[in-house]
Amino acid sequence: MEEKIKELRAAIEQASADVTDKARLSDFWQKYLSKNGEVAGLTKSLRDVPKEDRPAVGKTINEFKQWAEAQYQALSEQVEKAALEARNAAETVDITMPAKIRQTGSLHPITLVKNEIIDVFAGMGFEIYEGPEIEDDDHNFTRLNVPKNHPARDMQDTFYVADDIVLRTQTSGGQIRVMDMEKPPIKVLAPGRVFRSDSDATHSPMFHQMEGLVVDKGITLCDLQGMLDKFVQALFGADVKTRLRPSYFPFTEPSVEVDVSCFECGGKGCPLCKHTGWIEVLGAGVVHHSVLENCGIDPNVYSGFAFGIGIERIAMLKYGINNIGLMFENDLRFLKQFED
Ligand code: DAH
Repeated sequence: MEEKIKELRAAIEQASADVTDKARLSDFWQKYLSKNGEVAGLTKSLRDVPKEDRPAVGKTINEFKQWAEAQYQALSEQVEKAALEARNAAETVDITMPAKIRQTGSLHPITLVKNEIIDVFAGMGFEIYEGPEIEDDDHNFTRLNVPKNHPARDMQDTFYVADDIVLRTQTSGGQIRVMDMEKPPIKVLAPGRVFRSDSDATHSPMFHQMEGLVVDKGITLCDLQGMLDKFVQALFGADVKTRLRPSYFPFTEPSVEVDVSCFECGGKGCPLCKHTGWIEVLGAGVVHHSVLENCGIDPNVYSGFAFGIGIERIAMLKYGINNIGLMFENDLRFLKQFED
């Protein structure tokens, strides 16, 4: 038996040298350590050993078995390690390759301008109200003094969702919603998206407005102009001036168009102000008495002013953008110019 074990040990040692991969490792196990393998064969041949010698020989066989299993274990780790090294070698990382740079976003120019406008008016005590983008005809038109069949409805090309439901064409409906909820004194700013069937270099079917409304006792057009002066100076520079031109909006009386002196040329005349020295920036006026009445506010006691700012228009002027479409194409070459 001693002799047999010695031979088997030599055979296993020799075979170990050939175990270089998983397939051979498996063969090794099959040949020597499986149930019908050669090591198990030794245990079986214990039958032929004289009874009195069996305990000692059995022990020797057991020890040998443990040695063979340890041998297998070592080979298995060796094969595993070699496989890992081979994989690592095949998958080397080239640390000289440029890294993937994670793109971080930045605020859109419309958001930048919107925040800037809010900042100015928040400093004057205005609160923010955001109304619904899908609006009923009542809030978008009728209670703003534009009843059905009124020609002023043609001023805005409307997207209808249902008979009396529209995609709001203006944030002015926010005036009505605020006056329904609150009694004067009122000082709100209502920013939001608006929609009109209109599209060219300066018009987009979706754009953004910022509505302003002030209602209190004794409010006049002078208050409006004083406040707008502060606003345009914060946005365009301390030297710019405002000018009011008569205009028409159904919900204000009188209505005005507000111009700023050209911040590009200082009013001398240049391509930006079309050589007039002035640039139109927003519409405004004294809140029409019918609008106040429509909201249960007595026009004999209270008065107010309102204004509507086109955010894209301000952004285009401020940043020198010549096509409104650029704002909505999401071209990174455009957007990256507004990163902090
Ligand atoms: N809603 C008007 C528009 O979309 C803008 C506007 C003009 C709003 C005068 C006002 C205002 O509040 O007083 O063209």
